[in-house]
Amino acid sequence: MLNFLKSTVGRKYIMGITGLIWMGFILGHMAGNMLIFLGPDAFNSYGHAIVSNKLLLYGTEIALILAIIGHVSSAISLTLENRSAKGSRYAVQAKGEKSTTWASRNMGAQGSAILAFIILHLITFKYGAHYQTTVNGVEMRDLHKLVLEVFTKPGYVAWYIVCLLLLLFHLSHGAHSVFQSFGILERKMQAPLKKFAWAYAVVVAGGFLSQPIYVFLVNR
Ligand code: HEM
Repeated sequence: MLNFLKSTVGRKYIMGITGLIWMGFILGHMAGNMLIFLGPDAFNSYGHAIVSNKLLLYGTEIALILAIIGHVSSAISLTLENRSAKGSRYAVQAKGEKSTTWASRNMGAQGSAILAFIILHLITFKYGAHYQTTVNGVEMRDLHKLVLEVFTKPGYVAWYIVCLLLLLFHLSHGAHSVFQSFGILERKMQAPLKKFAWAYAVVVAGGFLSQPIYVFLVNR
């Protein structure tokens, strides 16, 4: 088992499975955040429900931390191995593909920027100002106020837009690569899988993008 996980195929599986864990989380995170369009009470009650469910909260956090460690470490070791084996930075090519796309060639750079984004994002929101509010008699954190405060700053909104566009490309390629890692390589499946990967990436990045843009342009 350990030998399999250390093999090239095993590390590709780790990348795929850990990528899927994050894909599930960010789809749920984006959908939950859409409650911002319903106003402060809906958004804050949702955040409060999540942090009150300790099993869900800690379970999710542990899964996300393990997944990102597995994803980044297997990405680094596969990239290094590929470079030393083929002697070229851009030699990594998906099976059956004649040309590579910008998104596929720059997965490492996009991933590094997204990792930096996630760390700063946690500092801003999770560990940011703790305003309090009361909804239906229940005291809770006023995350809505913090989100409004952050997204009225043009620099912050611009940074989010850039990172979310990188996320769009990273997900569009990543969601497609997952199927290759799991051995679904038949030619006739490639076009629908690519469409699915793009649809997923556009929904997630588009949903997330709508939030800072809405706050900045409409709800300030
Ligand atoms: C406009 C976009 C986004 C907004 C408004 C937003 C908002 C938030 C807020 C308010 C929290 C704090 C929740 C709490 O402490 O109760 C949070 C947590 C978090 N966000 Fe985001 N987020 C956005 C995009 C993203 C993206 C693109 C990612 C990942 C690629 C991400 C990853 C996370 C993670 C990992 C947490 C911590 C979850 C936990 O501790 O269980 N977020 N986000």
